[in-house]
Amino acid sequence: MSIQKVSVIGAGTMGNGIAHVFAQSGYDVTLIDVNPSQLERALANIAKNMDRQVSKGSLSESDKTAALGRIGTSTNIMEGSSSADLVVEAATENIDLKLEIFRQIDMGAPAHCILATNTSSISITRIAASTKRAGKVIGMHFMNPVPVMKLVEVINGYSTEKVVTNTVVELSKKLGKIPCEVNDYPGFIANRILMPMINEAIYSLYEGVAGVEEIDSIMKLGMAHPMGPLQLADFIGLDVCLSIMRVLHDGLGNPKYAPCPLLVNMVTAGNLGAKSMEGFYTYTAGSKDLVVSPQFRK
Ligand code: CAA
Repeated sequence: MSIQKVSVIGAGTMGNGIAHVFAQSGYDVTLIDVNPSQLERALANIAKNMDRQVSKGSLSESDKTAALGRIGTSTNIMEGSSSADLVVEAATENIDLKLEIFRQIDMGAPAHCILATNTSSISITRIAASTKRAGKVIGMHFMNPVPVMKLVEVINGYSTEKVVTNTVVELSKKLGKIPCEVNDYPGFIANRILMPMINEAIYSLYEGVAGVEEIDSIMKLGMAHPMGPLQLADFIGLDVCLSIMRVLHDGLGNPKYAPCPLLVNMVTAGNLGAKSMEGFYTYTAGSKDLVVSPQFRK
């Protein structure tokens, strides 16, 4: 299967990162979002992130211009995917929304088109079963920030055809990524292992074993993690962390996956991490300083 035209649905952080790497690797990209101002923000972000690469010398100015020239936009899913060889859905983590998006892609995209989802934990098999081409549905889970992180977790749904998996594995390599193939069970591998660690860090804070800075420093200094688990939770979004814990808890039925009550409270209060400027840390626009949130100061 040859892939040249790629449509990316959802122009949030993940969607614009995915569009960025495809365009930089020579693919024609249509970035689709119902909200035109979100599309404008995404294009500005992609240009800013490419500028960062230009200033580091990892991308030339002319390659940047060519890559940006390969990205078109659309506010209509069916139109925007009508000539795609691959669609990557990167919308909000909401099963009903994803099922509706896949219904529209399935109607709009050509029969040969592979339908991939960047979901962090929703069942690929369930999404696939809602389409008329379950064999062509697959998980293509990129990590944030997409232009930097090497992993693509390639998730086989129950019905995914081998040729589709092989195509996505080869394609991920062409993007300069390292694909790792896994099967479709709750949380796949990345979040089955990452989220319980984050949840355990939140439990440790909740039970008063240590403070925010100590927990994060121990994991950064002792385990060589680039971010501590609480900072990483803020970076991912506490609402996303909670929803993944619920998928693990419901799907595997083991009480060890119960989300920490502190995580539930923070999400209920609207403290969602970096995107709401308040989580375990308090964020200030334009500052990279890590300042512990007032609730957790000693
Ligand atoms: N686009 C392009 N380049 C970017 C970028 C972006 N959006 N963000 C950062 N970079 C580049 C910088 O230019 C810099 O490049 P050089 O190494 O060439 O100088 C490099 O990345 C490092 O950036 P910074 O110096 O600004 O900052 P840093 O050293 O603190 O690194 C980080 C930032 C890469 C985010 C690092 O902190 C990190 O790796 N954090 C952990 C990220 C992680 O775990 N991601 C996975 C989250 S889980 C997920 O995504 C999936 C899920 O399902 C929940």
